[in-house]
Amino acid sequence: MKILSIETSCDETAVSIVEAEGGTESPVFKILGNSLFSQVNTHREYGGVYPMLAKREHGKNLPPLLMNVLKQAEMYAENPTSPSYGEEKWQEIKYIVSREDGLFEGLISALKNIEKPKIDVIGVTSGPGLAPALWVGISCAEALGKLWDIPVVPINHMEGHIASVLICKTEEFSIFNFQFSKKTNTIRFPALALLISGGHTELVSMKGWGEYEVMGQTLDDAVGEAFDKVARMMGLPYPGGPEISRLAEFARENNLPNIARLPRPMIHSGDSNFSFSGLKTAVLYYIRDKFSKDHSKMTIDEKADLAREFEDAVVDVLLKKTNEALERTGAKTLIVAGGVIANKKIRQAFTKLADKFSDLILKIPTNSLATDNSLMIAAATYLNVILNPKILDKQTKIIASGNLKLAM
Ligand code: KG4
Ligand code: ZN
Repeated sequence: MKILSIETSCDETAVSIVEAEGGTESPVFKILGNSLFSQVNTHREYGGVYPMLAKREHGKNLPPLLMNVLKQAEMYAENPTSPSYGEEKWQEIKYIVSREDGLFEGLISALKNIEKPKIDVIGVTSGPGLAPALWVGISCAEALGKLWDIPVVPINHMEGHIASVLICKTEEFSIFNFQFSKKTNTIRFPALALLISGGHTELVSMKGWGEYEVMGQTLDDAVGEAFDKVARMMGLPYPGGPEISRLAEFARENNLPNIARLPRPMIHSGDSNFSFSGLKTAVLYYIRDKFSKDHSKMTIDEKADLAREFEDAVVDVLLKKTNEALERTGAKTLIVAGGVIANKKIRQAFTKLADKFSDLILKIPTNSLATDNSLMIAAATYLNVILNPKILDKQTKIIASGNLKLAM
């Protein structure tokens, strides 16, 4: 099955073309084309993602990214004489994308002379995320579906993060290496997924693909959000996660004394919920009391010490809750996914935790698959189609859902 996938839920615009086979038992994916544009430089001056700006950027980026992946997949067959999908079709497409500035012009100039690509299904993130950003991807997917008569399937971004572990992409991977991954992709159920991203922190128990139960989640800030806010308090640029991570590593490498002390919120709550806003406030108070609210009075060593203590506090809480949930569910596979698992210390901590369990498979995506991307959306699209082939027949208007839940 050949899948075109689109991801625009936050500040990454991403498009992929993936060929999938093997069913839900042993899915394998061949990456035919993959393009991602990060808007992080655009948003940096705002200190976070500015939704209307993200929307505008997605509209601008999608047509060239799409053209790029079609070329990579050798599906960009130009034929100036034959295709032209007819004035009427373009009018329908104009209507579908009418709320997205510039998207129609971008699509028509990128696609008007190319032949219909051999794609079976289009998967697009419909939520959770920033609604204005989600809408651009949805409108684009629906326009392509209309243009080429290809079914379009809405995908939950968090299911995408879970499915990211199915794509075996080594760091040396090149899209020009058109091979199916040989690595086995078996997930043994029941499985447990810890999802840690900029918008979510949740522990999900999985009986099988598509069968999710959220055991617990953050009651306030998500882990990634806490990383970003704490970084801002220390005067570090957006996105703060990688910055904190670098500083914390510096503190460890140089064995800096541990002066900052932070709480481990809800570590003994006995349930699977999390809370990170108290941790963030503790950092605020620390900077207020010790440095008169002024981060510029902090030396690099003092910032590094605080970053390390913050990271350690996060690790302690995540590990404890995951350990408890593994024992409670008897999970045979642990999946840890979402942008925050790009953090080296957290990756190491989970590798160590998994070693404690004699028969536990640990699945962590590579860094480029941990942060938002469209390959994971392609993987989730495949699972959805295999589990429920009827979704290809019943095409209904897709609605962006900023707060879409994983399990109903
Ligand atoms: O999954 P993701 O790309 O987007 C969402 O779905 O939210 O996650 C983004 C989050 C940001 O908060 C970012 O600071 C965090 O992942 N992040 C990290 C690291 N790299 C990205 N957090 C800690 N350490 C990192 N190395
Ligand atoms: Zn994400």
